[in-house]
Amino acid sequence: MYITLDGISKEYSGFRAIDRATMSIGRDEFISLLGPSGSGKTTLLRIIAGLERPTRGRVIIDGQDVTALPPHRRGVAMVFQEFLLFPHRTVAENLAFPLRMMKMPRADIEERLRWIVGLMSLNGLEDRYPNQLSGGQQQRVALGRGLVGKPKALLLDEPLANLDRELRQEMEIEIRRHQATLGIPFIYVTHNQEEALSMSDRIAVVRRGRIEDFAERSAVYDRPRTSFIAQFVGRSNRFDGQFGPDGRLLDTGNGPQLALPEDGLRGLPGHAAQAFVKVEKIRLSDAPDGPLPGPNAMLCTVRDIILRGPQIDYLLDAGGRELSVSSPRDAAPFARGHRVLARWRPEDIDLFPQETDLPAEQAA
Ligand SMILES: Nc1ncnc2c1ncn2[C@@H]1O[C@H](COP(=O)(O)OP(=O)(O)O)[C@@H](O)[C@H]1O
Ligand SMILES: [Mg+2]
Repeated sequence: MYITLDGISKEYSGFRAIDRATMSIGRDEFISLLGPSGSGKTTLLRIIAGLERPTRGRVIIDGQDVTALPPHRRGVAMVFQEFLLFPHRTVAENLAFPLRMMKMPRADIEERLRWIVGLMSLNGLEDRYPNQLSGGQQQRVALGRGLVGKPKALLLDEPLANLDRELRQEMEIEIRRHQATLGIPFIYVTHNQEEALSMSDRIAVVRRGRIEDFAERSAVYDRPRTSFIAQFVGRSNRFDGQFGPDGRLLDTGNGPQLALPEDGLRGLPGHAAQAFVKVEKIRLSDAPDGPLPGPNAMLCTVRDIILRGPQIDYLLDAGGRELSVSSPRDAAPFARGHRVLARWRPEDIDLFPQETDLPAEQAA
């Protein structure tokens, strides 16, 4: 592996900001560190960059233990949320800055500048000052300044957080393309699950200084390893309940009965659990005249309808309980006030033992 974090911990006067983080990153990977605000993402990134020394553990880059090396001797570059461009220097001067720091000969700098200006589509803007650029252009200068020295890896700390949605989605594609073209690892910090899911090969979910899971993005989304990940990634409905005598039915009290797959794991009778069902896994149909057809179903009333392009989100009311459902637009002909039957498959339930020792956490 190209970059290895080996048992990294970081303490600030007794507070553990990073707790035994271990991960390995390949030479050609796009990795995201995804977690809520304050979970330790920036601290971990700064430790890789050398801007922060870990209390324990090692950082290995390209076979070399760099834990004791200063930032400029690690060969990695970092891009920040605030861009941090020099306001009184032109685009060309901003881009050339890292090369000057490396004491590159003037002729080589000229050539390298032509390369990065082309790569970042900044042609014609070389003599402008940052305040004469759009947000997207400033972002590309910041990105170019990170890449101009041909680093071994690029670290990005929420670089798109200040851009509006449309521009952000454009830049996601652009950043991903640069990573693929350059063939160096990008380590991308974000609290935004959509960003992490759209760009990454693998996602490390960070919570309270710990890496809760580090896996392929589809695995993080489809098979959350912890209830925190189930709440933080994707949009889900949560059901709290207790297992019945057969360990297969989860009784949620005045909510629905959830039935686990026949051939899957069972719960311990009488034990509590949290179950999650993603909004897009729930199917709606007209409510039947008679009673509920069985478990994994709820009778609801449509309370609100939200158009989201090709999807329609339904907010449903089931006897005081709220249910969120996202349906493809053409499969969703229900109007407000309509009575519907909501159903899901046993295999679409993500199940976790009840957490009782932790306060409820807000997804950022
Ligand atoms: N220099 C510091 N001194 C003390 N505490 C810090 C310092 N830097 C970060 N922290 C704390 O470490 C935790 C993680 O911070 P940070 O890495 O910035 O989180 P994130 O980037 O995920 O929002 C926070 O509780 C933060 O207050
Ligand atoms: Mg941060």
